[in-house]
Amino acid sequence: MAASYDDIYARSLSDPEAFWAEAAEDIHWERRWDRVLDDSRAPFYRWFPGAVTNTCYNSLDRHVEGGRADQLALIYDSPITGVIERFTYRELLDRVSRVAGVLAEAGVGKGDRVLVYMPMAPEAVIAMLACARLGAVHSVVFGGFAASELAVRIDDATPKVVLSASCGIEPNRIVEYKPLLDEAIEIATHKPDRCVILQRPQAEAEMVAGRDLNWADAEASAEPAPCTWVEATDPLYILYTSGTTGQPKGIVRDNGGHLVALNWSMRNIYGVEPGEVYWAASDVGWVVGHSYIVYGPLIHGNTTVLFEGKPVGTPDAAVYWRVIAEHDVKVLFTAPTAFRAIKQQDPNGDLIRPEQIAGLRTLFLAGERADPDTVQWAEDRLGVPVIDHWWQTETGWSICANPAGIELMPVKHGSPTKPVPGWDVRVLDEATNEVAPGEIGALVARLPLPPGSFPTLWQAEERYREAYLEEFPGYYKTGDAGYIDEDGYVYVMTRTDDVINVAGHRLSTGQMEEVLAAHPDVAECAVVGVADELKGQAPLGLLVLNAGVEREQGAIEGEAVRLVREQIGPVASFKTAIVVGRLPKTRSGKILRGTVQKIADSEAYTVPPTIDDPAILPEIAEALRSAGYAGG
Ligand code: COA
Ligand code: AMP
Repeated sequence: MAASYDDIYARSLSDPEAFWAEAAEDIHWERRWDRVLDDSRAPFYRWFPGAVTNTCYNSLDRHVEGGRADQLALIYDSPITGVIERFTYRELLDRVSRVAGVLAEAGVGKGDRVLVYMPMAPEAVIAMLACARLGAVHSVVFGGFAASELAVRIDDATPKVVLSASCGIEPNRIVEYKPLLDEAIEIATHKPDRCVILQRPQAEAEMVAGRDLNWADAEASAEPAPCTWVEATDPLYILYTSGTTGQPKGIVRDNGGHLVALNWSMRNIYGVEPGEVYWAASDVGWVVGHSYIVYGPLIHGNTTVLFEGKPVGTPDAAVYWRVIAEHDVKVLFTAPTAFRAIKQQDPNGDLIRPEQIAGLRTLFLAGERADPDTVQWAEDRLGVPVIDHWWQTETGWSICANPAGIELMPVKHGSPTKPVPGWDVRVLDEATNEVAPGEIGALVARLPLPPGSFPTLWQAEERYREAYLEEFPGYYKTGDAGYIDEDGYVYVMTRTDDVINVAGHRLSTGQMEEVLAAHPDVAECAVVGVADELKGQAPLGLLVLNAGVEREQGAIEGEAVRLVREQIGPVASFKTAIVVGRLPKTRSGKILRGTVQKIADSEAYTVPPTIDDPAILPEIAEALRSAGYAGG
């Protein structure tokens, strides 16, 4: 009889070293580890120290050598450009080796950083794997960020080379990446030696002589590069994510633990066998794209789908079903917001043709809270298990899930089910005591975290300790609050910091406030995440103007919206700023953002006992009502 979730989970916690050593047998190691887990520097832990491997070798070469050379590795399906391209493992290996050769010729070697600023073209996947091949550290930046955000990442990662493209394509416009990249390099203190630019037919990028290379030419003339063996504990990538300030956190992923965890997750969590088609409808700029468009499926010998389009509008709300049918997708992973978008346009699911989704086995959702209505809609329309699972850029794979490959447990809407093997999840109060079932507190995980989760922040070990390990000694603070019910189901309710989740994209309201505060007419401001039917949450800015400012308020509000778009990027979806007379604060001067959010969302709230002047709340409610918010 197959082992149950309870058995496997218990074993993962009682003897993690034996558990993960067994999982590691499925990976190629050029040299085996000295120890499975190094706890000598607790609370900093390292998995598989002493082992030597290569992530690209495990994702491509190993499969080519092992009989999958002619199996499809990557299907690029781009309804936005009308292109579908298929790559076998052999073809993908060939292209990756050549691009690794381009990087090597540009002086990139083990440990050097390479910034990848790419649309959802196959070259984005090739770029990441080419870095991994050389033991170089990639840092992928999502295309929806503005030049200044890109500049911050260039200065932090100090890349030798940037891999980019002439443009990305959004349904309503061509986004020219190259001018954004040029501007970012101009702003940044650090200057990369080379930029390798993929010229896409939709826009021609102007090249900077002496610095920029044409991707196609460089690849055509490059010598294929072999794999460079690296330590399991060497970094594979840095992925920046929103923190509480404008300075993003550089999440570091290592090679060995990541290989083991992702490979294990493909069968045990997603329930797929090598050779099957797996589709994560996300973007390579996010952690979901890193783990489950690129690395997880390829490490495990699956065929992965790279989709350049949107759930609606490219061309319609039936595109997901077309892709599933055309490529025989067995498992789909996306964000709830994608399903809300589809549901909005096709409420009865009339566009879902049963024969198109007959092969689909499971739908996985993550990136934001999966609202029960959306989960129910998907269950009813697709007739397959819909699995909400909870994870973060930091963790790299899921903390809680219903592990389809082990045992499907009964679903409780609103809960991502139970902790995944390796994750000892607890709920603590402020005094670091565990709370009773059903009581809300901080969601934490007991150290050590399992393989695959981040060992540190890029060149910021102290920030790692302060942000994640200090408040609850012996635990990792997830930054989420929630509870665990009597049956052990985990509920993730809200963030405990100023991170909001907009269309599954993680953003910092603190960072938006920093941008707004720089407007010359703004004295102070507050940004809150208000409920949004499509995107889950949307940012809303309240502005208090400097005394004596007499300019038209509407003009200032418009400038504020533009500033956030220019400084952070369109991905922030910052569409509304409202001028108010004053902001509600505590007597010690802390802005009551939670109360503002509740008023905007018409949620019940109690007037905080620490409020300085309760008379401000009706004023705020009135301002929000006039701007179209419910207003309490
Ligand atoms: N490059 C440049 N701009 C981008 C971009 C990219 N890669 N991705 C998004 N943007 C822009 C969009 O064009 C939009 O600009 P606009 O304000 O001019 O319209 C803005 O950033 C906000 O994008 P988004 O929040 O994605 O909203 P949307 O209205 O374009 O699409 C959804 C809404 C729900 C269809 C879309 O978010 C979606 O498909 N989400 C599900 C999948 C997913 O991305 N999951 C992420 C984590 S798993
Ligand atoms: P990111 O780092 O962008 O993946 O965002 C991580 C954050 O998204 C988490 O800390 C949660 O706040 C939220 N999140 C992700 N998945 C879920 C989920 N299944 N349920 C509730 N919140 C989620």
